Amino acid sequence: MNEQKVALITGIFGQDASYLSELLLSKNYKVIGTKRRASTENPWRIEHLLNNKNLIIENGDVTDFSNMLHLIDNYRFHEIYNLAAQSFVAASFDEPLHTFEVDAIGPINILEATRVIQRNTNHIIKYYQASTSELWGDQFDTVYDNDGNVLYNYQDENTEMNPQSPYAVAKLAAHKMTQLYRNAYGMFCCCGILMNHESPRRGEEFVTKKISKYVGRVYKEIKKMGLLQMSNEEKTSIITNKIGKLQLGNLSASRDWGHSRDYMLAAWQMLQQDIPDDYVICTEETHTVEEFLKLAFSEIGVNNYMDFVNINSKYMRPAEVLFLRGRCTKAKEKLKWKANITFRDLVKDMVIYDCK
Ligand code: NAP
Ligand code: GDD
Repeated sequence: MNEQKVALITGIFGQDASYLSELLLSKNYKVIGTKRRASTENPWRIEHLLNNKNLIIENGDVTDFSNMLHLIDNYRFHEIYNLAAQSFVAASFDEPLHTFEVDAIGPINILEATRVIQRNTNHIIKYYQASTSELWGDQFDTVYDNDGNVLYNYQDENTEMNPQSPYAVAKLAAHKMTQLYRNAYGMFCCCGILMNHESPRRGEEFVTKKISKYVGRVYKEIKKMGLLQMSNEEKTSIITNKIGKLQLGNLSASRDWGHSRDYMLAAWQMLQQDIPDDYVICTEETHTVEEFLKLAFSEIGVNNYMDFVNINSKYMRPAEVLFLRGRCTKAKEKLKWKANITFRDLVKDMVIYDCK
């Protein structure tokens, strides 16, 4: 019988960790998930997994080197997935030091602890770093036709990186460190450069969840109105007076949005290869925030979506990433991976969940 694999997932209460836990548990891994010690705990995303005897929750703060060292020393991990982060870009402008501590120093703590323990035990530990499309910032490459006209812009593994937020700068430091540990020490380290990925389990501060949650509230108000004879304008006015308008920032930013479930499969596949490498994971499509908004409202049969929105400067960022659209030829060829859940299905999945 094959030895049971043991994996560490940092940030176990996060969105991606919930889907990755489901995947690894379905493959009979023992999963050690770490959370920060906190006065209140909110494991809602993995509530359905808490009775699984192969899932163990430990305290583990990635900013504490000794904490990481003891943890990695205690378990014979085959794989480590470092998903823990202060992951909200907007907050990183207010908390640059905290963000750097968690998102840059945290990964170095894990890499260094892994290096020391691997050296002392000769037990191979594979490491996955959650890198991000934010690393590119304002950079992209362009494909032209034979007449020199722009066909499309994209980012891939070779696109220059020019981060535009404290979050992205910290993640770039971690990205480079992960590559350094691979090159300098021959460690099995991979960076998954993942474009935005969402799900019904997305944190409420992110724009997609903010929209789907609001749409869910509008849907419930419409349902309460039943068959009342009223114009659209009257209905809109009653609802926005009751629940307020949806406060948003830049609607023209474009993102390559996929589903977290699809993307966590790619993260696992990276660590199953013979040779460690970095991979862009994306859908190869791009949509504006406004397109997401329009589609989400259309799921509940509402077309006058802008009547529910107020553009609020509070949600504008000091520096913005305006355009993300990935190209993942490498992942398709080497991992045989591709995104299965379309943009339309993602929006639908989120809206249906929030309408319940
Ligand atoms: P998430 O939902 O915000 O999860 C991150 C988790 O990390 C949270 O549960 C958080 O715990 C935990 N954490 C924060 N500080 C920690 C610390 N010091 N020690 C241990 N845990 C800590 O993020 P996600 O969307 O699942 O993303 C997972 C990873 O992928 C992150 O590293 C993110 O930066 C990266 N990423 C995400 C995307 C995306 O679109 N989702 C794209 C590219 C890369 P609390 O709940 O206590 O704060
Ligand atoms: N959060 C938020 N709230 N964003 C808004 C709002 C709003 O009210 N209005 C417009 N936006 C715009 C942001 O300015 C940004 O251009 C876009 O919507 C997406 O914002 P977020 O959903 O906060 O995600 P993000 O792209 O900044 O970062 C996410 O994706 C990264 C990968 O590209 C996070 O998951 C990061 O952790 C991840 O690395």
